[in-house]
Amino acid sequence: MKTDHPIVKERIYPRQDTRVIIPAKVNSIRTRNLYLRPLELADAADLFEFRSRQDVADWLWSKIPHRNIQETEAYIRKKIFTTPDASGALGRQFTFAMISGTDPTQKVIGAVGINGLAPSPSIGYGIHPDFWGKGFVSEAVAGVVDAWKLPRKEPESESELSSGPEKLFAACNKANIGSVKVLQKNGFEIINEAHLEGDTVVSFALMRPST
Ligand SMILES: CC(C)(COP(=O)(O)OP(=O)(O)OC[C@H]1O[C@@H](n2cnc3c(N)ncnc32)[C@H](O)[C@@H]1OP(=O)(O)O)[C@@H](O)C(=O)NCCC(=O)NCCS
Repeated sequence: MKTDHPIVKERIYPRQDTRVIIPAKVNSIRTRNLYLRPLELADAADLFEFRSRQDVADWLWSKIPHRNIQETEAYIRKKIFTTPDASGALGRQFTFAMISGTDPTQKVIGAVGINGLAPSPSIGYGIHPDFWGKGFVSEAVAGVVDAWKLPRKEPESESELSSGPEKLFAACNKANIGSVKVLQKNGFEIINEAHLEGDTVVSFALMRPST
């Protein structure tokens, strides 16, 4: 779920100090059925094919589908973190284009990645309806969670020391059964429920897998 909605930022995700150090060049990920490579602006046309659909937008905030490719390009640009990682680096990102591992045309059928670093890292995803229910997003989330085992800065301040193990967060519409299942299958646990624009938003947390 996107994190730039002010209510989402303030109420859905708790604050967590940024300790992750994101490489300037993020590696691609291979899972059983998928090839996940860093998302590029040039992927906008493929992403627009599903971001422009109402049956996809129904599960997002806002529920307005993208009207043109420029809106999809703006969405891709927003995946660049606006807050620094723990090394102080700006302009990093950790979002991947989802491609079937057997598709010679390399068409982008979905996107998955870390929405932002503040107030805490959260994972987001979406896939073209032609590919719903094939286990792809469950598999993609597992790949990204595993790749999120990046170097971390040692805790320095009292607050960092007392904050406990680092977590990865997620949130989705409670009625989005597929998304709830994707998260639960990947070990995310429900931590909160809130109301947003007539929906019940469930937030989830996953302890960062140990490196
Ligand atoms: C929600 C979404 C990400 C699920 O992706 P997916 O690749 O279809 O999910 P998976 O195939 O990995 O399914 C995971 C589980 O959910 C179930 N599931 C998937 N879609 C479902 C649906 N619409 N209704 C009920 N169950 C569903 C699957 O059967 C599977 O269950 P199982 O493990 O018991 O067999 C995808 O439907 C999507 O992109 N929707 C539009 C955008 C969106 O909702 N993004 C997430 C916002 S938080």
